[in-house]
Amino acid sequence: MKKIDRETVQRILDAADIVDVVSDFVSLKKRGVNYVGLCPFHNERTPSFSVSRAKGICKCFSCGKGGSPVNFVMEHEQMTYYEALRYLAKKYNIEIREHEMTDAEREEATERESMLAVNDFALKHFEHNLTDTPDGRDIGLAYFRERGINDQMVQKFRLGYALDRNDDLLKAAQQKGFSEKFLIQTGLCSRSEKGQVYDRFRGRVIYPVFSISGRVVAFGGRTLRSDKSMAKYVNSPESLIYSKSHELYGLFQAKSAIMKRDKCILVEGYMDVISMHQVGVDNVVASSGTSLTDGQVRLLHRFTQNVTVIYDSDAAGIKASLRGIDMLLAEGLNIKVLLLPDGDDPDSFAQSHSATEVEEYIANNETDFIRFKTRILLKDAGDDPIARSRVITDIVNSIAVIPNPVTRGVYLQECSRMLDIDEKTLSLQLAKGIADAAEREQKAAQQRQARDQRAQEPTQPTTTTETNVSQPSPSQPAVVRPANKLRKPELVLAKYIVKYGLLQLDDVGCSVLEFIRNELENDGITFTDPICRRIYDDALQIQAEQWPADLAEKTQALEQERAAAIAEGQELIRSNGRDLADMQAKEKDLLELCDAKMAKASREFACMYLEDIFLSTPDDDERRLSTALAAERYQLSKGHTKYSYVETEEDRLPELLFRGVMELKHAILDSQISDLNTQMRQVAPEAQQDLMRQIFELYQLKAQFSKILGERIVNPR
Ligand code: CTP
Ligand code: MN
Repeated sequence: MKKIDRETVQRILDAADIVDVVSDFVSLKKRGVNYVGLCPFHNERTPSFSVSRAKGICKCFSCGKGGSPVNFVMEHEQMTYYEALRYLAKKYNIEIREHEMTDAEREEATERESMLAVNDFALKHFEHNLTDTPDGRDIGLAYFRERGINDQMVQKFRLGYALDRNDDLLKAAQQKGFSEKFLIQTGLCSRSEKGQVYDRFRGRVIYPVFSISGRVVAFGGRTLRSDKSMAKYVNSPESLIYSKSHELYGLFQAKSAIMKRDKCILVEGYMDVISMHQVGVDNVVASSGTSLTDGQVRLLHRFTQNVTVIYDSDAAGIKASLRGIDMLLAEGLNIKVLLLPDGDDPDSFAQSHSATEVEEYIANNETDFIRFKTRILLKDAGDDPIARSRVITDIVNSIAVIPNPVTRGVYLQECSRMLDIDEKTLSLQLAKGIADAAEREQKAAQQRQARDQRAQEPTQPTTTTETNVSQPSPSQPAVVRPANKLRKPELVLAKYIVKYGLLQLDDVGCSVLEFIRNELENDGITFTDPICRRIYDDALQIQAEQWPADLAEKTQALEQERAAAIAEGQELIRSNGRDLADMQAKEKDLLELCDAKMAKASREFACMYLEDIFLSTPDDDERRLSTALAAERYQLSKGHTKYSYVETEEDRLPELLFRGVMELKHAILDSQISDLNTQMRQVAPEAQQDLMRQIFELYQLKAQFSKILGERIVNPR
């Protein structure tokens, strides 16, 4: 991937100060050498989010999220790696040279920026109209008041008013130097057949639509007349910066609440979102009247797995939207459905109830989707056998798209009960449904992949966040693999590689990484876990390629520092020393002190070298795993407590490392033994003897290992 050149990436990573970066989202207090605050990734009352400036990382001790600055931004803003880098570059005024961009791409990028700029102007203009013009106050603001919307919400959702004139916005924008071209491209203005340019929004209250990164990409304008011939809503057209099917109204305002509550409530309209926020339910977004699209679902999935869809109780609407929900199921989301009391929509319900009442109603009435769908369809089908069998197929097809087999099983049982059909019969149908769904999914995945690849290609500088919503969610687990007995000991070794890989072990005479390599290569072992293996391979490559020069440079710098410190110390000793013996003794102390300082600094450098690289690597799997693995030292690094010296992991490293390698070998022996045992059961008696001998030998090896382990470990964990 050559989106940003390596040097620039390094400059960005070097510039990013973790305290500074986190402070933009979390209010931090200094505690000791670290900073603490309330975790932005989950709801909490006492701070467990800790930030270490020295180590350049942050971590929540409760939910485990955090990492390097780039990882934090990715997680918090749900950005891709390169989006996060661009964000940091902007924050630190680092220029990104876009040498890969073609002229056409560059032009499109400027075009997008110009459109966003004119939208931003319009946003402020509409806001100004609402509060600072007589018409705005008397008509627009009065309307919001009448609908029970308070000033706080007006500000939060940046609501506005378009004066009832043909060219109010047009004139104001032109006066500020915005060109007609972009007013038309954004759809803020239109050109009539006679060539006259005029405002699209006239005499309407305005609901701006924000992208997840908070830029205005579109507007919705509601008429205030009850005149039926007048369109109730006028919306910005699709454009270079606005794709309706890729935005959710309110997501920008709701995203942090969605993450904290780990749940999103989906409603239909602008007012539904705003009234729910006003009553304190702030994890609410709207699909803006249309049925959900694939893009919107994936967008949501970046923030949570749990979605509750609220319907007003009009039956036609419900049936129409049932189908759209299969898409949510297929995406692996947990869907619940909530029906409001007759005649209510979320807006009216929120306006007529207290915060607690709303929360309680939701908690008590949300039903999971399959059960809901079954109930509705069954009621409709009545006793008609053909209709009933259609219902069954329909439901089974919904269950079939659920990716998790355990969840599927639960629903199957449940439906067999509700539909009063034998579970076996249902599960046969289900198997067919799954096969069909798998085929459909495969096709969809291919399309998605092609699309993602296109989206991954070098694009515009600061605007990628606006459109690339189809990328895989950064918070999704990479791949689901079958349980692997070797994975645990492999993870332990991977941890030592990330945290201490290049540290020289004095007892052994090589680095941690080399020690591991020697041990593995001697026995012809390789990592079976693909991510551990990648970390191992990358570490070896770094050690061979960039490490020697960087180490030499660092050593030279440290030596200079040491020489300077010694010279300075000697100066002091010479001018203050009492006699020669005293001076000699002091000089000896000085040398020792300087040596120890240098040794410590160089150990730290070696430890941080790989960790720094892995915690900010573009490879999502490697970065996530490394972040999780590295977190441990952070917790244990107290060193001295008030009462006693606590041995750190680093102190015990040679022993731990040895143990780690042995445990991996142990696990490999175990799995070989169990393979042989399986074979034993399958071969003829004549062949069994040979297998028995092999098994016996493995057991002996194992016993040897155990003995060595026992001897080496004085203080077992
Ligand atoms: N909508 C739209 N364009 C339309 C009609 C509807 O974009 N021509 C979207 C809007 O986002 C609207 C939602 O669909 O908020 C739901 O439409 P509707 O129920 O008609 O409007 P409400 O949101 O209920 O508006 P209000 O309560 O102000 O009447
Ligand atoms: Mn309404």
